[in-house]
Amino acid sequence: MRNSRIVGVGHFVPDQVVSNQDLEKLMDTSNDWIIERTGISERRFFDHTKDTCANMGARATKMALERAHVDASEIDLIVFATITPDYMFPGSGVLMQRELGLDKKTIAAIDIRNACSGFVYGLSIADQFIKTGMYKTVVVVGAEIQSSALEFSDRQRHVSVIFGDGAGAAILQASDVAGKGILSTHMHADGTFAEELYVRDPGSSRKREERLTADMLDEVSIKAHMNGNLVFKHAVVRFMEVIAEALQANGKTKEDIDLLVPHQANLRITNFIQQKLQLDESKVYSNIQRYGNTTAASIPIALSEAWAEGKIKENDLVCLAAFGSGFTWASALIQW
Ligand code: COA
Repeated sequence: MRNSRIVGVGHFVPDQVVSNQDLEKLMDTSNDWIIERTGISERRFFDHTKDTCANMGARATKMALERAHVDASEIDLIVFATITPDYMFPGSGVLMQRELGLDKKTIAAIDIRNACSGFVYGLSIADQFIKTGMYKTVVVVGAEIQSSALEFSDRQRHVSVIFGDGAGAAILQASDVAGKGILSTHMHADGTFAEELYVRDPGSSRKREERLTADMLDEVSIKAHMNGNLVFKHAVVRFMEVIAEALQANGKTKEDIDLLVPHQANLRITNFIQQKLQLDESKVYSNIQRYGNTTAASIPIALSEAWAEGKIKENDLVCLAAFGSGFTWASALIQW
């Protein structure tokens, strides 16, 4: 049976570091509140003169390719996960294709917008294409520029302290080595809660003649609406379920996990999962302290840093788990 293996991971984060103290100057918040409720100390914000969603994805991909000793020309498919694309359309995947010089090769680019679950959804899509034999080398990217959509005001402070910018990438390749690579992926969604974490405007379904109107600029409707308490309650349940599903599907137990890399939503959520699973702290990766929640980029940035720190080694059992807007949630179990 053909498997897909992650042969390289990479990431890119913008240079600009924004601390909680910086945010204190913009709205009624405090370093203590942010750290206590989210675990975040700082995040990165993009530089509009040089960083775009697609080129941050390209820079993360280049690092992943280099570490994998794979040439960009070998890529057969791009899967690009983001909810903050460069344009309304086309998606950022084609822009990254062009940036990597792969436009002449006309390889396919798929854009997916499953928010914080986007990277794991993307991994699942890439895995299916490799397992069926259609493609040999696929890059999965998660990239986000959240900062340009945040509102630094008291009415939006519960949202704007959480999010940050960045990109991460994984190169997947076909392999015939049995029992190694992506063992399984698991995806779920529940549209009942679509409006509990969403940006409404400019959408196409508001029974308005025009999609974008001048008065929207003052409305919160063009900013993220987040029912934080509800999101939190669902997240902790779904994370636990989808991790258990991945372990069960492969006849593994939580004791077999070498590293759990959860979506970096909130340190309290991660700590809850770690304690419920009774995993040692060293087996659960966290970097939300330095980057905030980077939505689709959070898992690949974490994977890339964990790998570079030597926390992911050949043959390790790595579990990825995500939850986010939709609600959507997903997991992947990988024998590295
Ligand atoms: N600074 C200071 N105070 C703030 C604040 C901020 N940035 N944001 C909200 N508050 C205040 C509220 O106004 C409220 O004040 P009140 O008690 O006087 O009414 C108080 O803090 C508590 O607000 P609440 O919303 O109940 O806090 P919380 O403990 O639920 O924490 C979140 C808020 C957003 C941190 C938390 O709900 C959360 O992390 N949810 C999950 C979000 C998430 O993971 N989203 C991404 C999904 S992938």
